[in-house]
Amino acid sequence: MGTNRRCGVTVTGVELSGRRAELEQLSSFLGSARRHGDARLMRGEPGVGKSVLMGAAAELVVTADMRVLRASGSEFEADISYSCLNQLLLPVNADIERLPPGLREALSVALGFGVGTPADALLVCNAALLLVKVVAAEVEIAAPLQRVWHLHTDVNSWPSWQSDITEATADGPLEAGSVFRWSTFGLDITSTVHAVEAPQRILWGGPAHGITGVHQWTFTERNGVVLVETEESWDGEPVLADLENMRAALNASLTSWLIYLKTAAEQPLIH
Ligand SMILES: Nc1ncnc2c1ncn2[C@@H]1O[C@H](COP(=O)(O)OP(=O)(O)OP(=O)(O)O)[C@@H](O)[C@H]1O
Ligand SMILES: [Mg+2]
Repeated sequence: MGTNRRCGVTVTGVELSGRRAELEQLSSFLGSARRHGDARLMRGEPGVGKSVLMGAAAELVVTADMRVLRASGSEFEADISYSCLNQLLLPVNADIERLPPGLREALSVALGFGVGTPADALLVCNAALLLVKVVAAEVEIAAPLQRVWHLHTDVNSWPSWQSDITEATADGPLEAGSVFRWSTFGLDITSTVHAVEAPQRILWGGPAHGITGVHQWTFTERNGVVLVETEESWDGEPVLADLENMRAALNASLTSWLIYLKTAAEQPLIH
């Protein structure tokens, strides 16, 4: 239970007492969730302070520029189907439109936003998961589009803003057919550019140690910020042999790329 010292953290008007250790744990959990995904279960006696700690975690997340989806179970909603999922996905409701047709209808009907025959629960779960992944694979960057595009496509300077990339060389500006080489997490990758529509979209891919990765990046300017979306798919033997680990690695690499790009692009320019 800790001591009665104040923690200096105020959550929705309540100043927390004696929760320094728990807040530190939460903060390190959020760091690992941000890097490669993580989960925690918090439990305790009624009234011990679980909700208020969750609130503190949510506030830490917002300052770390992450998005929070939340839901709470209540007895009176127990008979309403998918009521928790509805609460959870309400802030990303508009993004349901971006799902492929079958999944889009399944989720809209399940959440009560569309009419039709309710779909199988597995389809609804997969649609919900895909929605969260779609939303998580994008980031808003408060910087001019040209600056974001330049950082992203100037291969030779990648190691200067992404410490996960140790080496990167391209012979010239990226255009369809150009080849560049880079190293990350011990993988030496040779990528070929398949398509470029500067400064909106770039598609590159290529084999690395038996894995074929194809990455598409899109950049859209909206309300003064740049929305970056990414799609990546990997194929090949190592992926099939070790599917879950490869998926985790893939998600981690996308997330960290986006965070690096945002950090670099939003940094004040030094003149
Ligand atoms: N560390 C703390 N410092 C100050 N006030 C606290 C602290 N922890 C909890 N409280 C206060 O105690 C009350 C109960 O806390 P909270 O609602 O978070 O408990 P809970 O564990 O979620 O309860 P339940 O099991 O009923 O959901 C709230 O009014 C909250 O503001
Ligand atoms: Mg509670």
